[in-house]
Amino acid sequence: MVNIKTMQTNSRILGVLGGGQLGRMLIQSAINYNQDIHILDPDPDAPCKDFAREFTVGSLKDFDTVYAFGKKCDVITVEIESVNTDALERLEQEGKLVYPQPHILRLIQDKRAQKEFYKTNEIPTADFILTENKAEVIQNSDFLPAVNKLGKDGYDGRGVQVLRSADDLDKAFDAPGLLEKWIDFEREIAVTVARNANGDLAVYPSVECAFHPTANLVEFLFAPADITDEIEKKACEIARQIILRLNMVGILAVEMFVTKEGEILVNEIAPRPHNSGHHSIEANFTSQFEQHLRAVMNWPLGNTELRCPAAMINLLGEEGFTGPVVVEGKDEVMAEKGVYIHLYGKKITKPFRKMGHVTLLDDNVDNLKKRAQRIKDLLKIKSTL
Ligand SMILES: Nc1ncnc2c1ncn2[C@@H]1O[C@H](COP(=O)(O)OP(=O)(O)O)[C@@H](O)[C@H]1O
Ligand SMILES: [Mg+2]
Repeated sequence: MVNIKTMQTNSRILGVLGGGQLGRMLIQSAINYNQDIHILDPDPDAPCKDFAREFTVGSLKDFDTVYAFGKKCDVITVEIESVNTDALERLEQEGKLVYPQPHILRLIQDKRAQKEFYKTNEIPTADFILTENKAEVIQNSDFLPAVNKLGKDGYDGRGVQVLRSADDLDKAFDAPGLLEKWIDFEREIAVTVARNANGDLAVYPSVECAFHPTANLVEFLFAPADITDEIEKKACEIARQIILRLNMVGILAVEMFVTKEGEILVNEIAPRPHNSGHHSIEANFTSQFEQHLRAVMNWPLGNTELRCPAAMINLLGEEGFTGPVVVEGKDEVMAEKGVYIHLYGKKITKPFRKMGHVTLLDDNVDNLKKRAQRIKDLLKIKSTL
């Protein structure tokens, strides 16, 4: 009889708060380095369930649950920001390595604090006003057109709404949030940057994000972004500055707007692997997941260059379908050159739920756009119900 514990291959355990698709792709990278990963997630059917060395079902927001989970690990990271930072702080005080550091998670949990951070550190960002409630938003109607954002607990477009004119004021959020100048940007880009505890730093070339017109979710991503070398340089420098100011260890995605005047404004940051870096699994020399692993484990960082122009297509649950997943059009898409399908193993689809993604490699940038649209039209996530 073999005791499966003896099969453990790495002495240091990496614990991840959250067991969704980001954790799942992190595990895929970790396997190559014999790095064991423990996962905590409230969903017993989370995408990581069958792949973690240990999978614990429990709340990410409960102090005792997060603390007890972290105690059994050596290094702790996250794949989602809304976690109990008090528990992480305690773990850090007791000698555990927590990356990104708890103070950074706390900052990111609140869009208001995040915006103040940019202001204090002279990082270019859209002008804003903090608002405590709906009445305060209404008082600031001369600030419109603006984007009204909830301070906490908004994600994937939830908690963000455009207030174009006074007619829209009625839908203002009645909770602490902010009003941000509406930016008529030319494009949205993202730059990923990584840093390990040694202080080594690596920046990825920028990518361009195209959003779904109504769902406020990334629909397509193109790498490289169609911007000048000068803007590229500026964007990478801003990302570098942010990770340095935060003194952060791990991987950080920086979402930015490029205005028609060529100005860059930081929209928001995510201190973890991010949707804007999914193409890097196939398109870059080092994927964002492997890079995050290298950063938090304090291993040497990998090369970030793009190997080939790429597109990424998010596979979102089709509207009108909720229930057990059926993937339509897979065989046809799989037959194409340079297509890499990633399904996240979620049991139930819902409209706009992130169910998977496709990376497409093509030397010809014009072809990329056409082919990405075709893949999106062919490959559909529906349901038996
Ligand atoms: N100030 C703004 N001006 C114009 N569009 C914006 C502004 N802020 C956000 N958006 C749009 O809304 C999207 C979602 O906003 P974001 O703050 O990134 O929230 P989320 O946490 O949902 O990603 C952005 O990617 C962008 O397309
Ligand atoms: Mg965003």
